[in-house]
Amino acid sequence: MFSKRTLRSALGGSGVALLAAAAAVVSLTIPSAQAAGTPLRDLAAAKGVYMGTALMQNELTGTSGSIAAAQFDSVTPGNEMKWESVEPTRGTYNWGPADQIVAFAQAHDMQVRGHNLVWHSQLPNWLTSGSFSNGDLHAIMIKHVTDEVTHFKGEVVHWDVVNEPFNEDGTFRSDLWYNQLGSSYIADALTAAHAADPGAKLYINDYNIEGQNAKSNAMYNLVKSLKAQGVPIDGVGFQAHFILGQVPSDFKANLQRFADLGVDVAVTELDVRMQLPSDATKLQQQAADYTTVMNDCLGVSRCKGVTVWGFTDATSWVPSTFPGQGAATPYDENYQPKPAYTAIQTALGGTTTTPPTTPPTTPPTTPPTTPPGGSGCAVTYGVNQWNTGFTANITVRNGGSAAVDGWTLKWTQSSGTQTVTQAWNATVTRSGTGYTATNLSYNAAIPAGGSTSFGFNADWSGANPAPAGFTLNGAACSVS
Ligand code: XIL
Repeated sequence: MFSKRTLRSALGGSGVALLAAAAAVVSLTIPSAQAAGTPLRDLAAAKGVYMGTALMQNELTGTSGSIAAAQFDSVTPGNEMKWESVEPTRGTYNWGPADQIVAFAQAHDMQVRGHNLVWHSQLPNWLTSGSFSNGDLHAIMIKHVTDEVTHFKGEVVHWDVVNEPFNEDGTFRSDLWYNQLGSSYIADALTAAHAADPGAKLYINDYNIEGQNAKSNAMYNLVKSLKAQGVPIDGVGFQAHFILGQVPSDFKANLQRFADLGVDVAVTELDVRMQLPSDATKLQQQAADYTTVMNDCLGVSRCKGVTVWGFTDATSWVPSTFPGQGAATPYDENYQPKPAYTAIQTALGGTTTTPPTTPPTTPPTTPPTTPPGGSGCAVTYGVNQWNTGFTANITVRNGGSAAVDGWTLKWTQSSGTQTVTQAWNATVTRSGTGYTATNLSYNAAIPAGGSTSFGFNADWSGANPAPAGFTLNGAACSVS
């Protein structure tokens, strides 16, 4: 069952309502979409965590944009906030690509994870080949951190201030920053970021620190010492770029030991790569790995959320970085959800109606009967709304004594304009202010006492009140 949600905002707009009511009758049919069940972001919110994805500037529109907006409530720019992108020339900032991602996030009620400010990689040439004095390099770092955090002040919830500071053996990575400035560059970057936006949560982020090992011990000792010195450090990001079947068994215990230092933790770049080609067995193992990671985070109260490093195999960084490997994300290259998607959804408490792989060959044992009457059906209408769109999840319960075989649910939108863009577990059509949802072949039957769920995404303007009433096969339903 979906939990009932209240509308986050109920705008007025009765004038628009009249226009909408008078609008010419239009009818549109929406194909059932990839992901059935409640979107991940709604499930995550109900659990008190965020569910994020990395997203690149060229993924904000079309299928990728609509899936990202529907499923995720946090966005990490994949490259657009990195030094080489933001400050390609010394002192000249290129905010455009990152600003576009931030605007997309704001339009879809998603928070932004800023990534990243100080790192050894994706630095501009002017910086790596500049041969700066230590003093100049320090000033350059502080200015960059200050300017970038200031630009996004109030817009970025979590910042990966320092990325990947350690070697595998727990020594500091020998990069531009450590080699010239020593380990104090970390505290200095955090302090500058905090001064620029005291409201942002500041993280250090790294990979291969998910289990307890030399590298995570070093991170642990660093965070402990930063806390002891009063340096502004709010959290540790665990990238979680995993190899199939190799999620460390002590991941949760490790997250907990960091939380016990008094910092938040987050899974920041999750993917689970495999040797290509993928097959059903590997995809099942991958789903199990995603389940483990989700449960590890959910099992630690200071774990704030999970971000996947791209949600689709179509654009994942894995194949170009690890030759021969891929299929690391929850959606395949055709933007279809994989078992890993369902694993995340289930770990977050969702239930999914999975279409059968083969249609039933035997007729139902109970012959089709008359649909239940008014008191026989009950509808729950849950909505997650942002300023221009919403996701509706509808559960229809058959409270009658006879099974329903084939169903049509109808309702009317009393005001505002709603345009359905995507539906799952049903075909949803609109004609003027009237909406009709009909079953797909696999969920035609609702047994007596049983229920079925479907949902849709839509754009709205003017107003978007919850529908007052529904009919199931022509008979009025109660609404809860
Ligand atoms: C990756 C991006 O996804 C690629 O597009 C880019 O070519 C290289 O960087 N750890 C990090 C991320 O912190 O910034 C990296 O992102 C992946 C590894």
